[in-house]
Amino acid sequence: MDDVNADVADEHSPCHSQSIENMSQPNSDDSAASSAPKAGDGQDDVQKNIVWHAHTVSREDRESKLGQRGVVVWFTGLSGCGKSTIANELDRLLIDRGATCTLLDGDNVRHGLCAPPSVLQEEHGEEFAGRFGLGFGPIDREENIRRIGAVTELFASAGVIVLAAFVSPYQRDRDRVRKTIESSGRAGDFLEVFVDTPLEICKQRDPKGLYQKAIAGEIKNFTGISDPYDAPPSPEIHLKWRKGQTPHDQATEIIREMEKRGVLGPAKG
Ligand code: ADX
Repeated sequence: MDDVNADVADEHSPCHSQSIENMSQPNSDDSAASSAPKAGDGQDDVQKNIVWHAHTVSREDRESKLGQRGVVVWFTGLSGCGKSTIANELDRLLIDRGATCTLLDGDNVRHGLCAPPSVLQEEHGEEFAGRFGLGFGPIDREENIRRIGAVTELFASAGVIVLAAFVSPYQRDRDRVRKTIESSGRAGDFLEVFVDTPLEICKQRDPKGLYQKAIAGEIKNFTGISDPYDAPPSPEIHLKWRKGQTPHDQATEIIREMEKRGVLGPAKG
């Protein structure tokens, strides 16, 4: 896959025909809101009623069985910057060297775990779709990244190397994921990769025609056009766009950095 196809939705996804850019914002129907547990009402009191159950098999047992460390490589950057393309290339290189890894990316996750209301409505009804469906408003993005952060933590705790490619435009949300990952594992388990491709290049690529629509005002809250992007001030890996550089070169740069930081063992087999 070349850069131009960065972030393209998975054609084999069961609901790929659903138009992501047409997703509606969650509805604010009062009946939906009234049945939801509220902070402090006792229904969601994790400390009193939900008790953590310690696992018999530890993270260390799983990691030593796999011969690797469970870490999260988190790609952030504008739509069309190349996150998914580089992450896919890295996934291939890691699998080829015997690592156990998996890949989560924005467009695909938004077909399932973080689906928009329009996708959830038919199966689950309006109230459910309104409460749990996600669009691109600030709170929706916050919840999108929170859910994905929780999933990456589960994978990392199982000793898996997780590659996560999400626009994740807000530094606060990315920092929260870092905190989740590092507090359940170790410092250094979260590597933020800033795919720093200039907006002008992303607009020229426009693999899904979304920039054109956003500029025409047909898509609201579009990152880089009508919604902000917080560039990471101190990412572990900063991939600055350079003419002629391939996704393979960039993925190789990440592998080198992972080796240097001691989060990637020697190649197996
Ligand atoms: S995030 O901001 O919440 O992290 P995520 O990575 O899940 O976004 O999804 C981004 C993808 O959704 C983009 O690659 C793009 O294809 C598509 N998209 C649709 N609408 C928007 C929008 N308003 N802003 C950014 N991306 C959008």
